[in-house]
Amino acid sequence: MSIVKLAPSILSADFARLGQQVAEAADAGADRIHVDVMDGHFVPNLSMGPAVVRSLRRVTHLPLEIHLMIADPDFFLDEFAAAGSDSFLVHWEGNHNLHRTVQRIKSLGKRAGVAINPATGSGVLEEIVRDLDQVLVMTVDPGFGHQQFVRTTLPKIGQVRELIERLKPGCAVEVDGGIDVTTAPLVVRACATVLVAGSAIFGDPDGAGVAMERLRMAVNHREDETEAAARSALQRSQ
Ligand code: DX5
Ligand code: ZN
Repeated sequence: MSIVKLAPSILSADFARLGQQVAEAADAGADRIHVDVMDGHFVPNLSMGPAVVRSLRRVTHLPLEIHLMIADPDFFLDEFAAAGSDSFLVHWEGNHNLHRTVQRIKSLGKRAGVAINPATGSGVLEEIVRDLDQVLVMTVDPGFGHQQFVRTTLPKIGQVRELIERLKPGCAVEVDGGIDVTTAPLVVRACATVLVAGSAIFGDPDGAGVAMERLRMAVNHREDETEAAARSALQRSQ
């Protein structure tokens, strides 16, 4: 069984059929639903607010993961929590009181994650990672779906994994942006275990279920190769 989890991002969904699209993703084995919240300040785009989370909460049992790309996340945590959110991803960038934000998330009984943009190094996580359930490595600059994967983020995924193994084993490494059948194997090789995907899932003309199966096959192929390499290395050493 694959240890890689898929988190469909509804930013690329058809909002007129949102419940149906989320149900399709759930049937296809989605681990959680990724909700991108944008305020037009932190990123140059607007998206959705707690009302969407409240509606989704009524139609799915999947965990709802809220990626806050907003200037003042602390102002909105209570409302999103009351709407039925299960976890929050807040950015390191622009947050001068990140420790306070993370503690507030935890005091609400929710899972906490910190996101870092492509130009931000893994070292900024050193003093906060012990408090986290997950780290989100942005593999595009946040703000829009369907952007091109930033390849220079790949080594950072491994660096985040090392930091986590050292300071907070069990904390998940998630990636977000430009994940498709080509890039999914690369991020898995780099040690990511949770993959956010928007356009590759909801933009697929064959539907979310087929798209998720394709992603999973791409990832499993990668995992099979890794196992085979490990087996032959073992044989060589015997
Ligand atoms: C980008 C968002 C992503 C977005 C990913 O700012 O955080 O979650 O939905 O979309 P794709 O998978 O299309 O790059
Ligand atoms: Zn996101």
